[in-house]
Amino acid sequence: MTERTFSIIKPDATQRNLTGAINAMIEAAGLRIVAQRRILMTKEQAEDFYDVHRERPFYGELVEFMTSAPVVVQVLEGPNAVVRYREVMGATNPADAAEGTIRKAHALSVGENSVHGSDSLENAKIEIAQFFDEGDIVG
Ligand code: CMP
Repeated sequence: MTERTFSIIKPDATQRNLTGAINAMIEAAGLRIVAQRRILMTKEQAEDFYDVHRERPFYGELVEFMTSAPVVVQVLEGPNAVVRYREVMGATNPADAAEGTIRKAHALSVGENSVHGSDSLENAKIEIAQFFDEGDIVG
């Protein structure tokens, strides 16, 4: 089934000029980038986006990191996009990520892990709506 998922290329990756390399891996995996924007996240945007992690010990560090430099927010479209992108990203902790995945190739640590992808179709819809108007997505 054709789906959309939400992706973020995180500050550790944009600061190392890895946007193009990561986009090449996304496209090679059969996912189409149907919307994309480079932004500097506000503290409020990062806090809202990671609200589910508010009680975690790493929450403050996570918000600080995500606002420390530009990110690229994206909508990806393709067959089973949510699960497919999670496969392409690899495990959250790069030490556990499989060969050929974005995090294995590029991530620095569990925090500086280069990319975010939605964990469910329901969350994908919520996350996309936080950053994009429907009219900005051209499938
Ligand atoms: P992400 O998919 O963006 O969603 C939550 C993020 O929290 C996750 O990727 C990691 O980057 C981050 N995270 C998870 N565990 C830790 C941790 N132990 N320390 C710092 N950041 C973490």
